[in-house]
Amino acid sequence: GSPDAIERDVVIVGAGPAGLMAARRLSQAGKSVAVLEARDRVGGRTWSDVIDGAFLEIGGQWISPDQTELLSLVDELGLSTFERYREGDSVYIAPDGIRHTYTGHMFPASDTTKAEMEKLIDLMDGLAAEIGAKEPWAHERARELDTVSFQDWLRQNSSDEEACNNIGIFIAGGMLTKPSHAFSALQAILMAASAGSFSNLVDEDFILDRRVVGGMQSVSITMAEQLGVDDGTAILTGPSDASVFLNSPVRTINWAGEGETYDEHDPNYTVTVFSDRVTVQAKDVVVAVPPNLYSRISFEPPLPRFQHQMHQHQSLGIVIKVHAVYETPFWREKGLSGTGFGAYELSQEVYDNSNHGDTRGTLVGFVSDEKADEVFRLPAEERKRQILESLSHYLGEEAKNPVVYYESDFGSEEWTRGAYAASYDLGGLSRYGAIQSEPVGPIRWACSDLAAEGYQHVDGALRQGTLVASQIIEVRDQA
Ligand code: FDA
Repeated sequence: GSPDAIERDVVIVGAGPAGLMAARRLSQAGKSVAVLEARDRVGGRTWSDVIDGAFLEIGGQWISPDQTELLSLVDELGLSTFERYREGDSVYIAPDGIRHTYTGHMFPASDTTKAEMEKLIDLMDGLAAEIGAKEPWAHERARELDTVSFQDWLRQNSSDEEACNNIGIFIAGGMLTKPSHAFSALQAILMAASAGSFSNLVDEDFILDRRVVGGMQSVSITMAEQLGVDDGTAILTGPSDASVFLNSPVRTINWAGEGETYDEHDPNYTVTVFSDRVTVQAKDVVVAVPPNLYSRISFEPPLPRFQHQMHQHQSLGIVIKVHAVYETPFWREKGLSGTGFGAYELSQEVYDNSNHGDTRGTLVGFVSDEKADEVFRLPAEERKRQILESLSHYLGEEAKNPVVYYESDFGSEEWTRGAYAASYDLGGLSRYGAIQSEPVGPIRWACSDLAAEGYQHVDGALRQGTLVASQIIEVRDQA
């Protein structure tokens, strides 16, 4: 049986990529760790599974060339990657519903719309380079850019509605998965800067470059196996003194006893973390869950005032990742890459998502923010019909008849509640960003949602895990 109460140097809440990376680096530095995970699996927002006989990437999957923390971890773990299929023409569906094929990265819109798009891309590139991803809140224009919605900012800089909508989807539907009126220009600039530039976000061959053979979740599974996994009935894999405890939602973090104040160098100090299954006493805590879930945990004593406020301004967007599997990748025979964009379509993006070495063809589409709300109000069959209808606008009638159909629905998952990641509401980033990663007593925060480079991505989650691990090692090894 599993232990009820244990002592470790560091306790980590959440076995997603951020928490497992922190545990891995701490454990490599000789610290003992316990990772408490609410779900019955590791990987969090990465989840690879077989549905009706088809291997699907239900959560995060793509890697871009700048995501070097993830790429080098993939190497370190002995995993490998493959390129997304991209031969042939892409499809653009114009505001009038007319379908156009094209190559390259610029949509085949009118010359004036294209020129307006180029202008907006240049503006965003300039701001992303100047403001950067590390401390966007510290820039002198931070408040100004954080109090205008991305939607309004685009229209202040261009009167071409088609150009504004086309540029808008790369951040709104495509990344933050909120309508562009719901977040600021500064938040959009952070998103662009975190990927190196806005041009990188517009370039699907860059941002959606490679996938992990065997699925992105295998990155987390491999890290967890090496730490040892205990699911409450047995040690599933790895060393017998397992460090990863599944089915263990953390309910309470008691970080200073009554009348106590926190002193990081007090040799007798301990923090106690209570989960449904295992209680852990430790010196340090890493909370590696997205910020929208912090308030699911009781902190004793309560977190400081600004933390309470800040956490009410960070929320997840919503997107339905749609998987449609066909006997063959029929679009390839028509000279199409499977890539398609249409700002006015139900599925604003579509890509070839066929698996490595698979003869079947898989398409992935995305139904984002308010469009997701709309179709979630429909019966499942009608939702499926409308989504497949949208995919058929890009790639033809064959798209309507997949052999396997599945909708990723992280909005219904208690331990996520949306997709892909968290962003601030209007004004929140400049108001609170500077303190979002400040430790509270022995508690540190790590997740993709707080990352600079790789913000909202697996790479950013790993960078966060590495960062908090190095901070803890530094504090403890000088003590
Ligand atoms: P993550 O949410 O992954 O892990 C947190 C863990 O904490 C979870 O396992 C959760 O169960 C657990 N937890 C929560 N509360 C708890 C509690 N109280 N007690 C114990 N455990 C608790 N990224 C990318 O790089 N490329 C991509 O293509 C995509 N695409 C994509 C698609 C979809 C549909 C989603 C949902 C997400 C993506 N992403 C992505 C984003 C990527 O998956 C995400 O950024 C990382 O998984 C975040 O890792 P974290 O470890 O920060 O959080």
